[in-house]
Amino acid sequence: MLLEKMLQSQGFGSRKHCQQLIKNGAISIQEQIVSDPKFKLNLQNLEYSVYGEKYVYREKVYIALNKPQGYECSHQATHHYSVFDFFDEVLMNRGLQCVGRLDQDTTGLLLLTDDGQFLQALTHPKKHVAKVYRMQTADPIQVTQIQQLEAGVELRNEKGIFAATDVQQITEHELTMTIHQGVYHQVKRMLAAVGNKVERLHRAQIGQLKLSQLAEGEWIYLNEQQILAAKNQNTALVLEI
Ligand code: URA
Repeated sequence: MLLEKMLQSQGFGSRKHCQQLIKNGAISIQEQIVSDPKFKLNLQNLEYSVYGEKYVYREKVYIALNKPQGYECSHQATHHYSVFDFFDEVLMNRGLQCVGRLDQDTTGLLLLTDDGQFLQALTHPKKHVAKVYRMQTADPIQVTQIQQLEAGVELRNEKGIFAATDVQQITEHELTMTIHQGVYHQVKRMLAAVGNKVERLHRAQIGQLKLSQLAEGEWIYLNEQQILAAKNQNTALVLEI
């Protein structure tokens, strides 16, 4: 691939802007300045720097963020911060999108990507990718509520029954459960449907990818194994991040 095209694909602006960067001597590969925009690159394990800042070539990006409270999953956040505030302009230029949404007050595992197929694979209703949530409830959790959640509840203006699996009570007011769809406010509405209320909500796992070390507000690029785990295509083991 031509150097100018590679830079454009990685979010460094228009072809013209990338040509200018190259001609200005901003780009180095293996410590050598490359000033020819038509320089042909081998993309395999390509590392380069732009004005001294190091980058790795990525055909697509797959990111896991431990989302803090108070961040909206929208580009034009109105009342809170936006989760996109965590990412620089170069990443944003690639067309980064959230893979499903978390409410502004929900914490935990949020994936972002510029790969439309990956986004579809994780959010398409027919794929039923499992998502594990931990929550604190306003009222003590009743055994009957757990039974109802497992049997399934109806949600207003949604077709079908919404059931959770693996519902586990942790303390009087704490619960974990797995859901396999992703409709608007699903967990909060399911808890409301059984007569309780979610006070705090945290997403702990998507597919086989589980949040562990990543601190709130931190993000990482996912590797191939972690991408497969999120898609549930690596069912043998849960990968912790
Ligand atoms: N269900 C909810 O109610 N909120 C979320 O943020 C995610 C799932």
